[in-house]
Amino acid sequence: MSPGDLDQILCGLSLPTDPNLIVGTDGCDDAGVYRLTDEIAIIQTVDFFTPIVDDPYRFGQITAANALSDVYAMGGKPLLAMNIVAFPLGDMDKSVLRDILQGGLEKIKEAGALLVGGHSIEDKELKYGLSVTGVVHPDKVLLNSGAKPGDVLLLTKPLGTGILSTAIKGGLAGEEVEERITLCMITLNRIAGEAMAEVGAHGCTDITGFGLIGHLFEMANASNVSITIDSSSVPLLSGTLDYASMGIIPEGAYKNKKFYQKWVTSKLSQKDPLEMVFYDPQTSGGLLIAAPGSKAEKIKEKIKSLSDFECEIIGKVEKGVAGKIILE
Ligand code: CO
Ligand code: CO
Repeated sequence: MSPGDLDQILCGLSLPTDPNLIVGTDGCDDAGVYRLTDEIAIIQTVDFFTPIVDDPYRFGQITAANALSDVYAMGGKPLLAMNIVAFPLGDMDKSVLRDILQGGLEKIKEAGALLVGGHSIEDKELKYGLSVTGVVHPDKVLLNSGAKPGDVLLLTKPLGTGILSTAIKGGLAGEEVEERITLCMITLNRIAGEAMAEVGAHGCTDITGFGLIGHLFEMANASNVSITIDSSSVPLLSGTLDYASMGIIPEGAYKNKKFYQKWVTSKLSQKDPLEMVFYDPQTSGGLLIAAPGSKAEKIKEKIKSLSDFECEIIGKVEKGVAGKIILE
């Protein structure tokens, strides 16, 4: 599905409203949020996909980290998770599924959440994911519409998982690259999410299928601001730029470009492979946090003291045409 397709389908449906609904379907946010009391809101999200790596255990870890991320992106803490499984019983050994579920469970535990059930069906194509319920204080929900002029943007994981996966599939990259992207994808956004919740921020989303630019656009548009990106400061997984300059670009990046490029003003040279990297669809990508400079620095320091992941301030939020993105 292309970006926007689902929005159009949802468009014709009349969805219920409720004063306690903090986040519903209209803001393209990462999860739904509902106020239960003045102190507690629940966050609800679901995500699943087909295998993106061969190792079932790691596939389970990646999928779970990706699904849990949407709770962190709202400023919340995951509490409960349920497995979603589609499995080709006739064609695949059950031990594969056990390994997937084991990998997922490990990440659910690492997040401090509980696995409380799930549902499985028989299907020709293997799919796995989680529905996750989390909690957050109703006044501390971080929306993608919260970015304010004057904020800076912090990105908490390097980009490049789509491009490097494509290189691996094409036989152009080996085990060392696979190790690098897997480590990136299985890393929970927990440390980043907790640092952000502790220090405070204005807005947040996580970088997934629409690529950096797609998610920047969602934030800039919803927040009614423009965003300027300092292209050279965006953290990349090593090797990403080399493969991108060889033209190893996943189809999803071209789809993202087609959909989002009208909002982008690029000061990069036309041959610069960086631009396509910014459209690269990410799996289990980092958080994109909008916060005042001093807070963003504090969040960054906390993250860096607890992990060795690259985490950088990549741009700034400005008054201007809603949704406009400038690449400098
Ligand atoms: Co998300
Ligand atoms: Co999601």
